Amino acid sequence: MKAISIIRDEHRSLAAVLHGMLYLVREIGERGKKPDFRLLAAMMYYIDTFPERFHHPKEDRYLFRILGLRHPAAGGLLRRLDAEHRAGTEKIRALEQALARYQAGGPAEFSNFRTAVEAYAQFHWDHMRVEETELLPLAEKYLTAADWLEIDTAFLGHTDPLLGAEVGARYDTLFSRIVNLAPPPIGLGPET
Ligand SMILES: [Fe+2]
Ligand SMILES: [Fe+2]
Repeated sequence: MKAISIIRDEHRSLAAVLHGMLYLVREIGERGKKPDFRLLAAMMYYIDTFPERFHHPKEDRYLFRILGLRHPAAGGLLRRLDAEHRAGTEKIRALEQALARYQAGGPAEFSNFRTAVEAYAQFHWDHMRVEETELLPLAEKYLTAADWLEIDTAFLGHTDPLLGAEVGARYDTLFSRIVNLAPPPIGLGPET
């Protein structure tokens, strides 16, 4: 069940970037720090492309589909999570617009941006928590060894190169870039 640890690791990476973004908006809002738009843009790019193009498609195409076949009673949960994957696409657009308005409009647009970051982070935490506490335990219980072979093979990139380890490594590089740009305590970049 390599796929389960891959999904959990990916949730940790996404959560780290969301925590980083929340930290930055708190520093701006409460301590008057200047916004680092290069870092905010790198974080935004990550949370736009990583869940949308890589993480959620793997869940949809393999885990959700096969669990739906093996355990039809999970249908309600699967529909909810699938609807959240689609809703996430709209929410990230709203967040991007809020960042663009903040960058162009200055401090008057900050509170909108902060609200959008907080809403997006909360939405994604709730989603990841339900996957980890409800979905993954059902998958562990109902999927067969052959199912796991199919899912693990896809997650490792052997059948679906767009969703596998090689593409995952590109996101790891992007994640490292964010860590190197971000100031302590969230990253290794220069103090601001
Ligand atoms: Fe998901
Ligand atoms: Fe997930």
